[in-house]
Amino acid sequence: MADSSTGTESTEVNPEERFLYRGRTRCSPEEEDKLERQHFWKIINAFKYYRTHVEENLKRCERQYLRLPLRHQRLLSGYLDKLAELRRCMECNHQVLRAIVQNCTHMFENMEYDKDEDARRAGPSSTFDMDKLKSTIKQFVRDWSDAGKAERDSCYKPIIEEIQRLFPSEKCDVSQVKVLVPGAGLGRLAWEIAHLGYSCQGNEWSFFMLFSSNFILNRCEKENSLTLYPWIHQFSNNKMSHDQTRGVTFPDVKPHHLPPDSDFSMTAGDFLEVYTDSNTWDCVATCFFIDTAHNVLEYIETIWNILKPGGVWINLGPLLYHFENMANELSIELSYEEIKDVMLKCGFLFEVERESVLTTYTENEHSMLKYLYDCVFFVARKPVTPYSNFPNGKDELQYSKTLDTTM
Ligand SMILES: C[S@@+](CC[C@H](N)C(=O)[O-])C[C@H]1O[C@@H](n2cnc3c(N)ncnc32)[C@H](O)[C@@H]1O
Repeated sequence: MADSSTGTESTEVNPEERFLYRGRTRCSPEEEDKLERQHFWKIINAFKYYRTHVEENLKRCERQYLRLPLRHQRLLSGYLDKLAELRRCMECNHQVLRAIVQNCTHMFENMEYDKDEDARRAGPSSTFDMDKLKSTIKQFVRDWSDAGKAERDSCYKPIIEEIQRLFPSEKCDVSQVKVLVPGAGLGRLAWEIAHLGYSCQGNEWSFFMLFSSNFILNRCEKENSLTLYPWIHQFSNNKMSHDQTRGVTFPDVKPHHLPPDSDFSMTAGDFLEVYTDSNTWDCVATCFFIDTAHNVLEYIETIWNILKPGGVWINLGPLLYHFENMANELSIELSYEEIKDVMLKCGFLFEVERESVLTTYTENEHSMLKYLYDCVFFVARKPVTPYSNFPNGKDELQYSKTLDTTM
């Protein structure tokens, strides 16, 4: 997880692209800028390398089949046809992935990437990046397909219902209610909130996600006009052969269908670095996000800081800490009990709490192996007159004894 965020240069943006992607604005040293560009091209190359990577795997399958004794090959007479079908699906994925990264160099309002010849040098992508790309393909199902509706209903609906309950359109001008969705993934939750008329900004850090959401939000016009084959990389736990090669169409809605004058945007960059302005947001909605932190206390601290007094934090998700067991990465793995304790000490008031919301995440509904997340859901308010243990910036967090004794 060594993604960096976008940088500082200004550039023209294609007027046809409706939702602007803003890079994080900050003065970076030359070296950081260079690394940033290299990272950008590394991810573009991962999208382009996909076909080679899958092809290698299919060739390996073929070789292994051909090594079987003939009597076994004869028993598996449809096996090579199955591989041919997988190859056809892979080609379709490849076409979509190529389209996603076409013109990506211009997608950021304040950063151009196509000037840098050096950074473009392509080589084989790592298994890590290929896994990320496959996860991104599955994320299309979760966010933008009919097949993902049940999953969205379990994850996004509770958050959306709370926003509507707390900021009802009958009682307030929802276009003035500012909602932030950090770790927005492919942007569907943020889009749904904007679709209801709220002012909504998604924030995302991964170029895999940013390229893909840009493609959906800015370039997909027609409903269900495109098809991905998200499950072709899964060779285990298939009941029927067709389960592996079934396609999923997207987008299930017209992404451009938002209320007139809607205020919907996405920002690129690390949530902790992008959002430093105090008292700005009426609502921060996090879904499957807080466990992406190196130090979840920093997320709590930032959310406290950026919420307006009286603002709410709505959260749904598990605690599958992304940096756990990663060499040389800071990872503070707290239980929900510990997180809640810290939030209370900061000054948050819990208004809603459900400790067992069952959800899935990019589930393959036909698979013989499924994961079920037993998520926590809460609504916590920053009081109108806040009392906080985090008043003076990040260093406060290091004084845990102070936190313990002052409440
Ligand atoms: C598990 S995914 C959840 C995505 C989406 N909220 C959903 O429910 O489908 C977590 C997302 O947070 C993003 N992310 C992780 N750390 C981040 C950070 N520091 N700032 C912004 N986004 C981040 C990841 O790239 C990933 O897309």
